[in-house]
Amino acid sequence: MSTIETLFQRLWDDYNLLVGQPGRIKTLFEQRGDRPLLDHLALRGFGLTGLGVDALAHPFLEAGYRKAATYSFDQKQLDGAHFEPPHASLPLVFISQLRVERFSPWLQERVHALAEAVPTSVLGSGHLCCAGVPWPKVSQADYQRLMQESEYAAWLAAFGFRANHFAFLVNSLPSFSGLAEVNDFLRSHGFLLNSSGGEIKGSPALYLEQSSTLAQQVEVAFADDTTSIPSCYTEFALRHPLPDGRLFTGFIEASANHIFESTAAGQK
Ligand code: NI
Repeated sequence: MSTIETLFQRLWDDYNLLVGQPGRIKTLFEQRGDRPLLDHLALRGFGLTGLGVDALAHPFLEAGYRKAATYSFDQKQLDGAHFEPPHASLPLVFISQLRVERFSPWLQERVHALAEAVPTSVLGSGHLCCAGVPWPKVSQADYQRLMQESEYAAWLAAFGFRANHFAFLVNSLPSFSGLAEVNDFLRSHGFLLNSSGGEIKGSPALYLEQSSTLAQQVEVAFADDTTSIPSCYTEFALRHPLPDGRLFTGFIEASANHIFESTAAGQK
């Protein structure tokens, strides 16, 4: 395996160890005779030096990925970018970061305290994307208070740097007629879907249709106690050909805005 394939495997293994859901879904697809491919990996960061999009993108750029487009999510105070791989066998990478300076002095102070606790060995590793939680555990009260201002900030404080989600490429699932049938199949196996903005975000006219599960609830040890909170989810992307025949490889801001909410409510 190449270095970048090893990195994807490490992120996938960590993600499955935490939630189990994507591996179970992959097996269900394989049992139908499909050979599911990944569409993209999504990572989250803080818009602070060394903890944002640029730092998270580092190993992907080294492997030949290039930044293809940038995105703004003003409602959630996030900026994002997507990175395209050097060859089609690798997934796209979508990375976002929180505009920390747009929040209350309390949140800014709390997030800066987390940032200052990150060891220089992590900052200099070039592999921030799989560093996990590089700061002391937050308290449940701080988690709840972060949640009130930014669900994204609360998620990042609790789970750190790891895959937020992987998305399967629905084009690689020929046993399904489309995304609606994938959604029905997931529901029949007990998965809850994110219905913010409708179960299917986007349309063939926008060249991209997406859906996602609700994040799985997992037990997290906080500084004071252990409790169950929403963790990671699984996404499904159906890409349509552009007028020139190539598949669309970008993202739709309005759809991604709803997909972010998959970690707002969890599934047992
Ligand atoms: Ni996604």
